[in-house]
Amino acid sequence: MKHEGNNVFSVFDEIISKEEKEEFLGQKSHVVWMTGLSGSGKTTLAKYLERKLLDSGYFSKLLDGDNVRTGLNQGLGFTDADRHENIRRIAEVSKLFVEGGIICIDSFVSPTIAVRKQALDIIGSEYFVEVFINTPLEECEKRDVKGLYAKARKGEIPNFTGISSPFEVPEDPNIEIKTLNKSIEECGEELYNKLLPLIKIT
Ligand code: ADX
Repeated sequence: MKHEGNNVFSVFDEIISKEEKEEFLGQKSHVVWMTGLSGSGKTTLAKYLERKLLDSGYFSKLLDGDNVRTGLNQGLGFTDADRHENIRRIAEVSKLFVEGGIICIDSFVSPTIAVRKQALDIIGSEYFVEVFINTPLEECEKRDVKGLYAKARKGEIPNFTGISSPFEVPEDPNIEIKTLNKSIEECGEELYNKLLPLIKIT
C-alpha cells in the first residue's frame, strides 16, 4: 500500500489496463492457439504469421516447444499428465501476454479436446482463437522433418501423437487451415486474413 495525500492506492490500481495497452498498440489482443500433429506445419505457419503481423503493424509473441519445453517447461514429458501441465503453464503465460495487449501465438500439439479446453478455460473464450492446422498423418509421416515418426514406428518413442497416443481433431475450430498441396505462403496468408477481423481495432 502506498499513501499519497488522503488517497490510499493498492499496487493493483497502478497497473495499466489491457484496454489502454491495446489502444497504444493499435490492436486487440488474443491467443492464437495452433493445434495439430507434429510436423503439420504449426510452427512454420506461426513464424509466418508473426512476421506478417509485425510487417502489418501488429505486435505478437510466439511460444512453441523450442522456447518453452527447453526452459519454463524443461523436464516435462509426453504423458497425459505432463502434457496437461505443459499446456496449463503455457496458457497461464499466454493470459499474461493478453492482459498486456499482446497477441500471443501458441504452437503446440495439444492433442486432446480436454487439454485444449483447459487452455481455453484459463485464457477465457473471448480471447481464445483455436486454429487447427490440418495436415493428414500420412503427410506428416512422409515429411518426418525431425525423424521422430520413424523412431515412433520402431517403438523408440513412447506416447507419440498420432502413432501410440491419440490426436483428437478439434470439433469446431475458429480457423482451420488445410495445408495439403498448398504453399506456406498460401496457408500463412489464409491464416492472417482469417485472423485480421479479430485483432483489428474498428
Ligand atoms: S504437447 O502435446 O504437450 O502440446 P508440444 O507441442 O509441447 O506437445 O511438443 C510436441 C513436440 O515435441 C513435437 O513436435 C515433437 O517434435 C516432440 N515430441 C517428442 N516426443 C513426442 C511425443 N511423444 N509426442 C508428440 N511429440 C513429441
